[in-house]
Amino acid sequence: MKNIKKTALILGATGLVGNELGKLLLQQKNYEKIHLLVRRPITSNNSTCEVHVVDFEQLHTYKELFQVTDVFCCLGTTIKKAKSKKAFRKVDYEYPVEAAKMACESGAEKFLIITAMGSNPKSRIFYNQVKGEVEESISKLTIPSIHIFRPSLLLGKRDEFRFGEKIAEKASILLNLIMVGPLRPFKAIEAKNVAAAMASMARTGKSGVNIYPSHEIERIAKENN
Ligand SMILES: NC(=O)c1ccc[n+]([C@@H]2O[C@H](COP(=O)([O-])OP(=O)(O)OC[C@H]3O[C@@H](n4cnc5c(N)ncnc54)[C@H](OP(=O)(O)O)[C@@H]3O)[C@@H](O)[C@H]2O)c1
Repeated sequence: MKNIKKTALILGATGLVGNELGKLLLQQKNYEKIHLLVRRPITSNNSTCEVHVVDFEQLHTYKELFQVTDVFCCLGTTIKKAKSKKAFRKVDYEYPVEAAKMACESGAEKFLIITAMGSNPKSRIFYNQVKGEVEESISKLTIPSIHIFRPSLLLGKRDEFRFGEKIAEKASILLNLIMVGPLRPFKAIEAKNVAAAMASMARTGKSGVNIYPSHEIERIAKENN
């Protein structure tokens, strides 16, 4: 097999999972270039990483940045933060689908995205519905290898304070103790394990559309790291 070094692009690299993912991909040393698409300036002191502050409303104008082998999408917001359903949908549906289309057009081999447990385009819950729709739209594209990660509640240290998630996180520490057997899929998961599973599946030659529920993400992360 030819030993061609890969190139990556991460959308959402400033987020809880995206930040862990960037660090992991650097550690693995199998990417010769990692482009980070961000909306606010960040510093990187590693020459493998290139930070690009972009206007996500104009993603289509950054075609050259999508000339990579692997595209990772860790974008996301909450309705509370976005302030409207429309604005939420932009971040969780429109930008990821636009990115996936550009990845497809530029011949990327892999597209890896985080959605959420309960993603379902027919869900009555708006969040799950949008997550299901993004999965559906991306799965129709002819990217050779698509990986969809559906985590449950994410655990990890955030700069911002999210009251609802903080309460859920505290409760989940106790609940995780009893989340065994049929309850295992609902167990909260460390953001770094989601990142590890993404990095791990990017190393495999698995083709087609692959969907990973939360407990499967946890298993992949533990087996491969
Ligand atoms: N939180 C949970 O418990 C949970 C559970 C299941 C699934 N998920 C999903 O998992 C994924 C990753 O979650 P996370 O907690 O790591 O996300 P996060 O920490 O909130 O990070 C989200 C990323 O998206 C970027 N972003 C948000 N709004 C944007 C906008 N308008 N334009 C451009 N970029 C924008 C953020 O940039 P800035 O840093 O500039 O804001 C950040 O890089 C998301 O899709 C989320 O829905 C989360």
